[in-house]
Amino acid sequence: MPLIPQNLYDRIVSLRRLLHRQPELSGQETGTAAVIADFLRDIGIQCRTNVAGAGVIADIPGIAGVPCIVLRADMDALPIQEETGLDFASARDGVMHACGHDGHTAMLLGAAALLSGEKDLPAPVRLIFQPAEEKGTGAQAMIQAGALVGAGMIFGGHLDRHYYPGAIVVAEGAVNASSDNFAIEIVGQGAHGARPHESIDAVVVGSLMIMALQTIVSREIDPARPSVVSVGQFYAGTAPNVIAGQAKLEGTVRAQDPTVRKQLLTSIRRIAESIAQLHGAKIHVSVKEGTPPLVNTSEMAGLARDAAVTVVGAANVLPLKTANMGAEDFSYYMEKIPGAYVRFGGQVPGKEGFPAHSSKFDFDEEALAVGAAYYRAVAKIAGQRLRDQRSRS
Ligand code: NI
Repeated sequence: MPLIPQNLYDRIVSLRRLLHRQPELSGQETGTAAVIADFLRDIGIQCRTNVAGAGVIADIPGIAGVPCIVLRADMDALPIQEETGLDFASARDGVMHACGHDGHTAMLLGAAALLSGEKDLPAPVRLIFQPAEEKGTGAQAMIQAGALVGAGMIFGGHLDRHYYPGAIVVAEGAVNASSDNFAIEIVGQGAHGARPHESIDAVVVGSLMIMALQTIVSREIDPARPSVVSVGQFYAGTAPNVIAGQAKLEGTVRAQDPTVRKQLLTSIRRIAESIAQLHGAKIHVSVKEGTPPLVNTSEMAGLARDAAVTVVGAANVLPLKTANMGAEDFSYYMEKIPGAYVRFGGQVPGKEGFPAHSSKFDFDEEALAVGAAYYRAVAKIAGQRLRDQRSRS
């Protein structure tokens, strides 16, 4: 039995390709929003547009008085020049749907069509089409705009090239890491390259810091708890024969556990301050906190698993193979209400080596049908749970 009607599948595949051809960067998703709103109105679902920028919210009624089930897709693309060679490749220079958010949008529109045909939904369903996920700012903006008012639970998911099409990955515990950025400004003393004794060399101080920061994960954090400290940028100097008086390091910190997250940031500050003091340099450390870790509770993962099993069968509901240290701003919603985040297998044979955020990223479109069917199933199963809770209380 096909997961969704063939004509709906054809329709969401062509929608995905249309969106893929016209990708839009975070905060600029107005054309994408117009495609979404047109589709929703065409199937008889009213929606609100221009929410937190280009966001779209649609409500499908269910039994009155029950909180709604929220289903969320992200909409934005990345500043990457596409090299897939697909016949529906990006028509915009330097912009590409390289994370599958075109697919996420198309599958949620498929779910909208399936749900709009359901009679007697146990709970109302709200669809959130969220802008600016790649910047990590869209979810908070949608929450501030009221996206979770009256909401009981939220569900979302991501395409994943590590798993075959037709598989849904449901895991308990951390499924995405936190992401915080840090910057260390070093102020030493500039001097002539031939007279190092007159300097406090900010390049040497910065280099020692970079090496010492590597020992946080290897020597201070429990190896059983995944974490990352990466220095991505190191700026210093003006000429080969001038010792730099100033330098700046910038990096990112990932963790799956709030305690480890705190420990990483504390250690960075301690190491930077100690090395600066060792060499008589001054420093300023700043941290820009990003998304929290995304953690599925066992209760919510259980609901997601039940829904996934009804769609693809127990044999195709898989555990997470390895810890995922990527960030996902869906975690902000889950700070407010219970929910679960899953992964949809989208592997294309021969393209396993092209990860998300690469110029050759692609996914198998069968995942669109899986995603649409999963969202319908989880809206009904989780909706029933909310309805039962309400009638008990
Ligand atoms: Ni993504």
